[in-house]
Amino acid sequence: MIVRRSTAEIAVMRRAGRLVAEVLGLVEESLRPGVSTAHLDEIAEEHIRKAGGVPSFKGYNGYPSSICISIDREVVHGIPGHRTIADGQVVSIDAGAIIEGYHGDAARTFVVGEVPQAVRDLVATTQLGLEAGIAAAISGNRIWDISAAVEDVALPRGYGVVRPYVGHGIGTEMHEDPQVPNYRTKTKGIELAPGICLAIEPMFTLGSADVETLADGWTVVTRDGSVAAHFEDSIAVTADGPEILTRL
Ligand code: MF3
Ligand code: CO
Repeated sequence: MIVRRSTAEIAVMRRAGRLVAEVLGLVEESLRPGVSTAHLDEIAEEHIRKAGGVPSFKGYNGYPSSICISIDREVVHGIPGHRTIADGQVVSIDAGAIIEGYHGDAARTFVVGEVPQAVRDLVATTQLGLEAGIAAAISGNRIWDISAAVEDVALPRGYGVVRPYVGHGIGTEMHEDPQVPNYRTKTKGIELAPGICLAIEPMFTLGSADVETLADGWTVVTRDGSVAAHFEDSIAVTADGPEILTRL
């Protein structure tokens, strides 16, 4: 079922989204060699709760933390813990919050210190993939148009496009219909209309797009060990084009 949110509902989602954007900014400020991933998680949870929000990831299918921290070959769903951040790492932070029953969900990939140019290009291009997907989230377009726009950023550069994990509708649940793949599918999907709210989240890799889940049951990694990047924003389709909810 596809839900179209009212202007009043989108106003609440904007608050949830901005809170998530604040969290990502705070974590970025603290992201330096030696900081523990558990500490970054604490910063995120504290900020969400102080703002009157609830960290949506915590307890979701048993997920133990408030944010996901995925490093280097880890694509998504890395669990914060005793690990510390080191120079040269590629660190993806994914955060979600609920305000008054409405969700925001967003992710950014950061590089710590010096990384090869090829890695910087991957990160920048994944962000471009997100921007292209958002730009295609226009009333009258279909989900397929978003998927194609994202895929067309990755393919010419030879990046892998991770397929088992996709974007999604968002609202009173973190994951709602429809799915938003980062690659062309056989079906064109629903037609976009004002009020439809989506999380668009490309995951690109420097090598093969094949992924597997580690023994912790969560951490998704590239099978070939290649570096991955992940960018996500929650958006609302409006009559005037996409509104990005998860930016300040
Ligand atoms: N932000 C992720 C998504 O976009 C969800 C995180 S999984 C969780 O779907 F278990 F940590 F919540
Ligand atoms: Co998401």
